[in-house]
Amino acid sequence: MSRRYLMCRPTHFAVDYTINPWMDPTAPVDVERAVAQWTTLYELYLSLGHTVDLIDPVPGLPDMVFAANGATVVDGKVYGAQFRHPERADEGPAYLSWFARNGFDVHAAKNVNEGEGDLLLAGEVILAGTGLRTEHAAHLEAQELFGRPVISLQLVDPRYYHLDTALTVLSHDNIAYYPGAFSPGSQEVLRRLYPDAVVATAEDAAVLGLNAVSDGDRVVLPSAATALAGALASKGFQPVPVDVSELHKAGGGPKCCTLEVRGMTGPERSEEGA
Ligand code: ARG
Repeated sequence: MSRRYLMCRPTHFAVDYTINPWMDPTAPVDVERAVAQWTTLYELYLSLGHTVDLIDPVPGLPDMVFAANGATVVDGKVYGAQFRHPERADEGPAYLSWFARNGFDVHAAKNVNEGEGDLLLAGEVILAGTGLRTEHAAHLEAQELFGRPVISLQLVDPRYYHLDTALTVLSHDNIAYYPGAFSPGSQEVLRRLYPDAVVATAEDAAVLGLNAVSDGDRVVLPSAATALAGALASKGFQPVPVDVSELHKAGGGPKCCTLEVRGMTGPERSEEGA
């Protein structure tokens, strides 16, 4: 199925601070390579028949490439992000103002939440991570705004600091996830709701293989996640591997670079920054 995404070119990409265990400011980052890998991902989405809007990158916001964290968009309603770390604070208003300029119904958040990093639409419900970045109060806020049940899940491993590093929504009724990233109770919730889920290995998780983007059929995932690709294929999904090694240095992958824009009719797509 064709989707609409918002992305941000990594023009100002860098790893200058550490807000997750993957980030090492002493390791060199190749910005040109990051841009090339990002461009491959962008062109891949177009070739799969998706629509991709672009937001202008802001100097001084090296993590702005991770568009998934910029907001949560469901039924044309935009729930703004409010970042936990001051280093990323200015990204929230930058994304919210893009949505306002493009005619969306925007809502600034009252609680800390990092957009689709932690709030993932799965069919009728929203699966929501907490414990490391997004506050539980934001789950309640999202439930009220979207009028959809929010299922709170406790993240317990700092390497999997956002829900989208540990869980991928594959279709309206199935997911892939790495149990070790969740508290025992949350693992039980996931087993109960998704008995047929793809359970990823520790190796798949450690290459951020679950930071994947599914359109219901095709699943774009980091090329290093080879076992996960096989497991997805055996469940009837088509794995589409991409090399995102440079963005991985900031703890990111394909999903982090991709904010899904759902349920908006009307305004023309923006060519900002194209
Ligand atoms: N360096 C960023 C951070 O730690 C990476 C964000 C990745 N985004 C994501 N959706 N998981 O906030």
